[in-house]
Amino acid sequence: MAKRLLLLLLTSLAVLPVVGAAEQGYPRARPLTDRTFESGPARLGRGQYLTEHLLQCFVCHSERDWDAPGAPPVAGRKGAGALLSERGDRRVVAPNITPDVETGAGGWTDDMLARAIREGIGHDGRALYWGMWYQSFAGLSDEDLASVIVYLRALPPVRNALPRTVLPADEQAANARSPQPITAPVAGPAPGDSKALGRYLIGVADCTGCHSAWEAPRNPGLLAGGNEIVRGTRTAFSSNLTRHESGVAYPKETFIAVMRTGKGKSLHPIMPWTAFSGLTDQDLGAIYDALGDVYPVAHYVSNVGDSRHCAVCEQEHPFGEHNHLVLPKSVPVAATVLERLPGTYRSDGANWTIMVRREAGKLYARENDSTADIELIALTETRYLGSGLPAPVEFMLPVAGAATSLVSLELPEIVLERVQ
Ligand code: HEC
Ligand code: HEC
Repeated sequence: MAKRLLLLLLTSLAVLPVVGAAEQGYPRARPLTDRTFESGPARLGRGQYLTEHLLQCFVCHSERDWDAPGAPPVAGRKGAGALLSERGDRRVVAPNITPDVETGAGGWTDDMLARAIREGIGHDGRALYWGMWYQSFAGLSDEDLASVIVYLRALPPVRNALPRTVLPADEQAANARSPQPITAPVAGPAPGDSKALGRYLIGVADCTGCHSAWEAPRNPGLLAGGNEIVRGTRTAFSSNLTRHESGVAYPKETFIAVMRTGKGKSLHPIMPWTAFSGLTDQDLGAIYDALGDVYPVAHYVSNVGDSRHCAVCEQEHPFGEHNHLVLPKSVPVAATVLERLPGTYRSDGANWTIMVRREAGKLYARENDSTADIELIALTETRYLGSGLPAPVEFMLPVAGAATSLVSLELPEIVLERVQ
């Protein structure tokens, strides 16, 4: 998600005159409040579970031991921050978030931390680089957010002065457009709803960000793998997690074992399995079940062997030669339904417009300013697959008349309302 938003922002920036981001009212930041989060055993325990395991905070905000399997955070440096990359005029630093007053977060208020984690605004008011996953953490419930902050406050302070993140001006201007203030309460998944729990965990843990090839010439589909992830000098392609033979088609018990052990320590350390190994059976089981609802995609991806052209994501990656682009056949759709579907649909939040038109009994879609036509293949009368779209789309039909919205079946779903 984070990545697609950034791409859209970069494209829209290209047609704007170059003006300082601040002059246009970016970043959108809400004023700080004086709220504080009360500590207690329940919050400390939950905070540790989230921070160390599900949300992988220390995978970025600590130096890592690259010689150990899975490259876990170096003991005694948890939260002390790390230089993540440095190249020319670009430097990315995950700051020291331990309570050290001089070099860490000791002098920041609880709300400064809360606003940074979910809303992408640093303690000093700057827009954070998208590589801090605030767009995924935005889904955190208020109680989970409070637990994370209570736990951060309880970390042993580590003295570690680091330089600041520096990005080229155009990239920083694009970054500045992403933060969104959160001013309404955020609830977690309803207790007892395992599928909702799974979707929540997949969202906040950013499985979707890493495991979907947002930047590939052709997006193979949500969680269908092939995203080339860079960590400093290391790179790896993410795996296909959809329920297809080329993805995660193995049983739940195997999935839990893979997540616990990094597939017998064989997975590339860019997959943060050392963090996920601490997740409960219940949470891993819920993630597995929710993955089963994602549209299955045939996409073999590996990190072993030579890179070869892949017809599914149009990149070069190991196992690419095993992939062939096979799209399903359209089911028949009654003309009386088909004529109700064309229109222009838009989500302001995702900055995404899809124009649907009908020609010779078929539907075609166009995204934003693109001139490329995507044929929509009917999976049912109202659900369609568009090659390169992240997920199938569902038209919402009222009892009579034209469709009122178009829903991209992602996690969470994105609703595009009819605007024309
Ligand atoms: C994928 C890497 C990554 C993960 C995971 C990550 N962060 Fe960050 N974080 C960063 C980077 C990089 C920055 C600095 C961005 C910048 O300077 O623009 C940052 C910035 C921050 C800041 C703002 C510091 C300031 O100067 O105000 C806070 C607070 C923070 N992270 C806390 C967390 C917490 C808590 C978690 C886990 C819930 C977390 N981060 C997970 C990479 C990460
Ligand atoms: C920072 C990026 C990143 C994040 C976040 C991430 N993964 Fe991964 N994951 C990877 C990469 C890269 C691989 C491929 C590793 C390899 O081929 O050795 C991988 C591999 C896997 C595999 C192994 C598949 C197989 O059978 O070989 C599973 C399962 C998996 N990830 C599940 C998840 C789940 C579930 C989440 C969220 C809770 C998640 N990953 C979050 C990067 C990530």
